Amino acid sequence: MFNKDGKDDSTYNVDNYEFIKKTSPTVGALIEKEYNRQKNNVELIASENYCSEAVLAACGSCLSWKYAEGYPYVRTSGNKGRYYGGTEFVDQLEEYCCDKWREVFKTDYHVNVQPHSGSQANFAGYKALLEPGDTILSLSLDNGGHLTHGSSVNFSGKLYDVHFYDVDEKGYIDMDDVRKKAHDLKPKLIMTGASAYSRIIDFKTFSEIAKEVGAYFMVDMAHIAGLVAAGEHPTPFGYADIVTTTTHKTLRGPRGGLVFGKQEFAKKIDSAVFPYSQGGPLEHIIAGKAVCAEEALKPEFKTYEHQVVVNCAALCDEFLKMGYKVVTGGTDNHVFLLDLSQFSFSGRDLQEACDAVGITLNKNAVPNDKRSPMQTSGVRIGTAPMTTRGFKEEDFRAVARRIDEVVKKLDKEKKEEK
Ligand SMILES: Cc1ncc(COP(=O)(O)O)c(C=O)c1O
Repeated sequence: MFNKDGKDDSTYNVDNYEFIKKTSPTVGALIEKEYNRQKNNVELIASENYCSEAVLAACGSCLSWKYAEGYPYVRTSGNKGRYYGGTEFVDQLEEYCCDKWREVFKTDYHVNVQPHSGSQANFAGYKALLEPGDTILSLSLDNGGHLTHGSSVNFSGKLYDVHFYDVDEKGYIDMDDVRKKAHDLKPKLIMTGASAYSRIIDFKTFSEIAKEVGAYFMVDMAHIAGLVAAGEHPTPFGYADIVTTTTHKTLRGPRGGLVFGKQEFAKKIDSAVFPYSQGGPLEHIIAGKAVCAEEALKPEFKTYEHQVVVNCAALCDEFLKMGYKVVTGGTDNHVFLLDLSQFSFSGRDLQEACDAVGITLNKNAVPNDKRSPMQTSGVRIGTAPMTTRGFKEEDFRAVARRIDEVVKKLDKEKKEEK
């Protein structure tokens, strides 16, 4: 793993580009460049993380060669539903992976560990509950939601009739608006979860509203799943009919998704993943997900997630002290949005200026953004990756001051340009 000073003290070949270069010089050279970029940069992308060497090794293992369409678990028919021979060991692995994830989230929900990504997990969640044309009430992309929560350019916005609840003037999800719109619309599904939302999400009230109007309730906890696992954010289990997540953000595992659902939706979830929307499962990634679940059960994981939240509060506080505007005025989790509306430059300009000094973050719309999605008036900042690399509060405060220098220089340049 890369440490906070940019040294690689891993025992596994995370830098195996030398080996790859022997047969694929172009690919090897590009991996080498990316390896150095990752090692040397301060990584503040809120949806990224560095998984362990064990997760990486599992994902690069011989399991990559195995086809295992279907499911290992005994269904009502009593059949083991795989379409291939030779699945004895991947069957055991996949069942073990499911058990570990239920243990991580202390739940008896059904879990499907095959989704290739968070988007695939959401696709399966909707398919299990809805028919095309059904109504969804959701958080829009502009207000912190995800593309798969109903954006018009995504399958979700094309297949379903999606309406959005708002955030209030401070940027908090407006639960009064959720209730009012739910009663007016009578949606088939109420959806929550976010890619850029810095506050605790009130799953209990959401589920009460869903009950009042007879809607299903689905939570996409992709960003906060690690915090949920560690008790740093309230759990959606027990409230939501379906819970989806990625495994590569705060959970710090391999790229991939999971779908959990109340037992009554188990069969529908499984058939929505395979054969409806995916082919053979990626058993090497499922092995990585199992290792990730084991890691999430360790006491060190709790310590890590707590530090992620403490670091985020410190970083945000340093910006506030320097007079910056932050959406909602702070953070409860691993992420926050700097609101740059008052500046002459855009989120994109700041992203590019930070890139030039080795700080990686991303432009992001702020609520009621006047700029286009390609420009934006904000940047999203997260603390999960650099916390993995050992950053503490003081390191993050120093990062804030460095970004402030970049902002001042950029502001001066833009004013001079004008
Ligand atoms: C809340 C949320 N859901 C789903 C996804 C989609 O995950 P993936 O990129 O693995 O499809 C993301 C990705 O950033 C996300 O933030």
